[in-house]
Amino acid sequence: MGDARLMLALESSCDETAAAIIERDLTVRSNVVASQAELHEKYGGVVPEIASRAHVTNLLPVVEEALEKAQVSLADIDAIAVVTRPGLVGSLLVGLTAAKTFAATLGLPLIAVDHVQAHLYACRIAAKRDIFPAIGLVVSGGHTNLYLCKGATEYELIGSTIDDAAGEAFDKVAKILNLPYPGGPHIEQVATKGNPAAFAFTRTFLNDDRLDFSFSGLKTAVLYQAEGTPGAVNQPPPLNEQRIADLAASFQETVVDVLVGKSRQALEQYQLRTLLIGGGVAANSRFRQSLEEMTAQKGYDLHISPREFCTDNAGMAAIAWEHFERGELADLTIDVTPGLVRKG
Ligand code: KG4
Ligand code: ZN
Repeated sequence: MGDARLMLALESSCDETAAAIIERDLTVRSNVVASQAELHEKYGGVVPEIASRAHVTNLLPVVEEALEKAQVSLADIDAIAVVTRPGLVGSLLVGLTAAKTFAATLGLPLIAVDHVQAHLYACRIAAKRDIFPAIGLVVSGGHTNLYLCKGATEYELIGSTIDDAAGEAFDKVAKILNLPYPGGPHIEQVATKGNPAAFAFTRTFLNDDRLDFSFSGLKTAVLYQAEGTPGAVNQPPPLNEQRIADLAASFQETVVDVLVGKSRQALEQYQLRTLLIGGGVAANSRFRQSLEEMTAQKGYDLHISPREFCTDNAGMAAIAWEHFERGELADLTIDVTPGLVRKG
């Protein structure tokens, strides 16, 4: 086990089929992602059964491409990593079944990875140095979670959304504003032409000590501004390009204020000075800018996942090497865990 060098990592927890080849020093040699966004677009969200079936079709070609891009073959691989939690049960099972098959037929160690921890570990890959302990915020389509990260693999959930995830809110608001799925990048683009102060939406829980989030009221507030409040006498003007841009900018600003504010509160409450940000929404430029302003003002150490590791990918499963170093290997009886794991 001591001289293991190359890892094949698989990720299929939601609607991206991904494979990566990762060296033990955390160099990601290749990171291939087959997105299913087109398949789910007309439904405005991920359809689990469609996702599982697409993973079955895409997985082996994605692995082949990852090997090819890294200029290695299966015979060069020393360990297999796979995301086993949390996620869609059918989707996770496709990746795990493939990983078990590779591990069993090639006689290689198998390592189970937590998807949420992996999102934050993207910060460690980029930093190329130890960044723990830290507060970690994972903001994606499925999660808005704050973690106390005591070490690379020791996480404790300290806050989360009580309804929609931030990315989910971006996707739902995009649908309301007639923008394509996934909504985040489209809202970000349209928002550049809008006024972020045009609508004063409520920053839910921002002035509250609890580290939880709620975005479903905000989504409804945007809906009422777009389509009118049920039963109200005065209805809003019709949606035109400027109103869409103003709604997108005001919505984005509200989400960013809450995410940045809660991160600051968590750092203060736990007396930590390092902040890690991961997940699809971390690709948002306004969010990144606001985080940089807040942390610069307070003198905190900020690590945001590099853009190529923000949305789901297998490169971030490099955290598997941390488990490997600690001898935390899985065996062939391991199962998937669809639900959120509170402590890791
Ligand atoms: O991490 P991810 O790929 O999948 C999950 O684990 O959920 O995150 C996808 C989410 C989607 O909701 C998408 O709208 C959002 O990340 N997203 C963004 C941006 N790019 C992706 N949200 C805001 N701004 C962006 N630029
Ligand atoms: Zn994710």
